[in-house]
Amino acid sequence: MTRILLIGQDGQVGQELQRRLSPLGTLIGVGRSQLDLTQPEMIQPVIENANPDLIVNAAAYTAVDQAESEPEMAFAANGTAPGKMAEVAQSLGIPLLHISTDYVFDGSKNTPYLETDPTRPLGIYGKSKQAGEAAILAVADRHPDFRYVILRTAWVYGALGKGNFVKTMLRLGGDRTEVRVVADQVGTPTWAGEIAETLTQLTEKFLQTPAAPNTLSGIYHFTNSGVTSWYDFAVAIFEEAQSLGVPLTLQRVVPITTAEYPTPTQRPAYSALANQKIQALLGSIAPHWRQSLRQMLAELQPRQ
Ligand SMILES: NC(=O)c1ccc[n+]([C@@H]2O[C@H](COP(=O)([O-])OP(=O)(O)OC[C@H]3O[C@@H](n4cnc5c(N)ncnc54)[C@H](OP(=O)(O)O)[C@@H]3O)[C@@H](O)[C@H]2O)c1
Repeated sequence: MTRILLIGQDGQVGQELQRRLSPLGTLIGVGRSQLDLTQPEMIQPVIENANPDLIVNAAAYTAVDQAESEPEMAFAANGTAPGKMAEVAQSLGIPLLHISTDYVFDGSKNTPYLETDPTRPLGIYGKSKQAGEAAILAVADRHPDFRYVILRTAWVYGALGKGNFVKTMLRLGGDRTEVRVVADQVGTPTWAGEIAETLTQLTEKFLQTPAAPNTLSGIYHFTNSGVTSWYDFAVAIFEEAQSLGVPLTLQRVVPITTAEYPTPTQRPAYSALANQKIQALLGSIAPHWRQSLRQMLAELQPRQ
């Protein structure tokens, strides 16, 4: 029976992964209480104890603004820990599937970012995720037989897990008449369920493909299809919520500039990711972001 270790089982993506990975074999899920990523010495014993055939890492320090005041925590969880996971996975001869972010880019492009584009993160969170990528790639450089995926995604939301932009908008739309949302940052909202689906397909591919030659490993970009701004995303959330009969007090969504909504971290102005490489590998195109939003909202309503 195949054994899969899921690190970060309680996050937005982690919880969606639990449902989808379970049918593939024995799923060993760990959360922060079993494995604290800021204690790298715990990584090897936890992995060895689980004795997995493959590892999926969905855990990360994801508080983008807070990272500016807690750089050590962010770098430990997002930089050092994935590197340690890669070392252990390589030594055991098993694949590591890891998630990274569009925030490794500076946003100066105006066409979708390719996997080969140079990274230049603007804030601590992005830098810490870049460090994690670099640590995994360093293991791959030293050991060409090491099997890994770095799946970069963006603007993640889900019905499960803690807060996200969709949940925040629904809350504000339920007790305010006006919401102001940044209109000059462009990217692709991506449902955690779609990311989990893609990682599950990658898991199956790795488990079914012989270890040599090592043809699947690499960096892949994956988001829902389409491109939008946070402002248009917010408008869509309210329209879809209204059509589902969610009671809203909201009357206006006002577009504002990034300069009008200062945050501790600078975010990329443009961070759409080109999905062609993963499309070619998996033979499918991700649904449009609005379709997945509709699906997530329909799933969320009975919970509220
Ligand atoms: N959220 C986004 O918009 C976004 C965008 C692009 C890429 N990503 C990437 O997508 C992946 C999944 O993100 P997500 O949205 O599912 O994030 P999430 O909901 O914040 O989940 C992250 C999980 O990691 C856990 N975690 C944080 N610090 C930890 C530590 N020191 N030790 C052990 N566990 C720890 C969290 O536990 P607690 O709940 O206890 O804190 C949480 O369960 C991450 O790699 C993230 O960088 C996210």
